[in-house]
Amino acid sequence: MKTIRSVESMTTWSEGLRREGVTIGFVPTMGALHDGHRALIRAARLRCDALVVSIFVNPTQFGPAEDLAKYPRPIRKDRELCRQEGVDVCFEPSASAMYPVGCQTVVTVPAIAARWEGKARPHHFAGVALVVTKLFGIVRPHLALFGQKDYQQAALVRQLVEDLNLGVEIMVRPTVREPDGLAMSSRNVYLSPEERIAAPALYKSLLAGAEAIHSGTTDVSVVQSAMATVVKHESKVTVDYLAVCDPRTLEPLSVVTSKVVLLSALRLGSVRLIDNLTVARPSGRR
Ligand code: PAF
Repeated sequence: MKTIRSVESMTTWSEGLRREGVTIGFVPTMGALHDGHRALIRAARLRCDALVVSIFVNPTQFGPAEDLAKYPRPIRKDRELCRQEGVDVCFEPSASAMYPVGCQTVVTVPAIAARWEGKARPHHFAGVALVVTKLFGIVRPHLALFGQKDYQQAALVRQLVEDLNLGVEIMVRPTVREPDGLAMSSRNVYLSPEERIAAPALYKSLLAGAEAIHSGTTDVSVVQSAMATVVKHESKVTVDYLAVCDPRTLEPLSVVTSKVVLLSALRLGSVRLIDNLTVARPSGRR
């Protein structure tokens, strides 16, 4: 496995392979890799001849009061996981290589970024959109993989690729969960032992919402109250949002007519966790 730090070397490597007809898969990450990333890497490995993983803690997607400085950076462990999984290149650019002095372009996807995570973290999605656009330009992949855990991010990336004709196929893979249902996330390490015990309430609330829909509830306020009932007994949990949305636009719905996405965000102390579940209304019901 090669480690590439320079933007120019990364592009030269990819361009050389593209000329030979080699397909390039790409998993962009901020490191602190876990089994969710491993699943993305394995899915890419099955579909592409060559595989690049980027490890870059992107400063532009963190707000001033967020955890950029203390974001976990276990780089040796990350490289080892990549090596085990047969990754060809770990792309590890510095912040100054990605954002040299004079870099001024902004990329925004206004409607998708406006709600939910975008409201809680106002600069976050502009930072994600910018870095993903740049990484695609540098790595030049045929296929890029994202986890469903960051549902809104995946929707934004799909829109971005379509609007800017970036020519990268986007694949979104299911969320990988701990045995108690908690979605794997690099931020789970911040949870205290008590918060970790309370954290699966997030997924349980989504399951309660799905159960309400499966049993025929179409009124979104009833679905939301089924979700809220699960978390209200957890004293450590504060709800940011429990939403029932259109799976493509992420606009909130008032009635469940077909497929929806349940989106939720909770706070446990200083840790903010997000999760989601897509749910189809039972067939035969009108
Ligand atoms: O999901 C992430 O880890 C990041 O938002 C991404 C896509 C690597 C961009 O920095």
